[in-house]
Amino acid sequence: VSLAVRSPRQDFEAELSAELWDLSARWLRRGLRLPAGIDLVSNDYLGLAGHPALRERMREALLEGPAGSGGSRLLRGHHAAFDRIEERLAAFSGQPAALLFGSGWAANLGLLPAIAGRDDLVLSDALNHASLIDGVRLSGARRIVYPHLDVQAVRDGLRQGGARRRFVVTESVFSMDGDLAPLRELAEAAEEHGALLIVDEAHATGLYGSGRVEALGLQQRVLASVHTGGKALGCAGAWVAGPAALRDTLLQRARSFVFSTAPLPALCAGLDAALDVLAAEPWRAVECLRKAGLLRGALREAGLTAPGEAPIVPLVVGGNAAALALQDALQAEGFDVRAIRPPTVPEGTARLRLTVRTPVADADLLRLAGAAGRSLR
Ligand SMILES: Cc1ncc(COP(=O)(O)O)c(C=O)c1O
Repeated sequence: VSLAVRSPRQDFEAELSAELWDLSARWLRRGLRLPAGIDLVSNDYLGLAGHPALRERMREALLEGPAGSGGSRLLRGHHAAFDRIEERLAAFSGQPAALLFGSGWAANLGLLPAIAGRDDLVLSDALNHASLIDGVRLSGARRIVYPHLDVQAVRDGLRQGGARRRFVVTESVFSMDGDLAPLRELAEAAEEHGALLIVDEAHATGLYGSGRVEALGLQQRVLASVHTGGKALGCAGAWVAGPAALRDTLLQRARSFVFSTAPLPALCAGLDAALDVLAAEPWRAVECLRKAGLLRGALREAGLTAPGEAPIVPLVVGGNAAALALQDALQAEGFDVRAIRPPTVPEGTARLRLTVRTPVADADLLRLAGAAGRSLR
């Protein structure tokens, strides 16, 4: 008899496989699928990812400069292109200064731990993005998760004494629901209690100017806004905009900035071109918001609910298997839609998260609403 001794690696592989099977059994196992069909799922809201101006400018930058940055910005990775784009991003955001990160994830992971610690209190919306949640956790600050959009709960939380600094953290357009944070009311609540407001504009940047902070004229009433370059701007990266002292503090202490290779310098050219396109082609955002209204109206006519107002339209179906079935039915009709399941969204609220994009024709949005109505009835 041969006694096959399994190595620790083989044992662990078997353990992982069992866990993966368990995910499959609960309709929660993820896989990769290449883009196919009409794009109603990407965050390329305005169609800038394929825009000739961005591609051309990034190509030129690659031909003229190095491919890679060479290191952390604090070492040899800093290039003139970063200074130029940060100045422009700050002005675009209506703030004195901006610091570029490799992604929104990195920006949010770096921001809170750089400015908050054990003696501080952070109030965080219950539906905030995972990167905000992880940033708060890493900071070590005491955390109060307030019910989604609930300004009264924010006020109540801020009344609690004992904290050195108090922060309120929210998305401006919620990424899975397409609804809008009451930024003016949150700014008021924060001011009443001497707290600092931080706004993640990931899904607002490019659609509402630099974001809803700017659209509402709240630039001086927030501590910082976080903007991503990988969504409506069509490239990648992210920046934190705020006072110069905040930028300089992040440069010292944001670990995702300090201990990470700077983005490709060509990213600066892409972001620069994206801002040019936003200025030259404002119809793109106008159209996107109009189309979002069109799709919501058509979904309601088809007997479905379509909450929210931004170009993110959630079709909440509840169960994981049901969300996958709706995804498959709509994919079969030529639409690229994907089911969003826990833990990305709360248990029992699996959904299709439709993104309305400027390049999608009105007729396709109407056809989608009809197909979704038929599938769900
Ligand atoms: C609200 C929010 N913040 C931050 C991020 C992270 O940004 P990025 O994709 O650039 O890492 C995302 C995107 O996934 C997001 O939806």
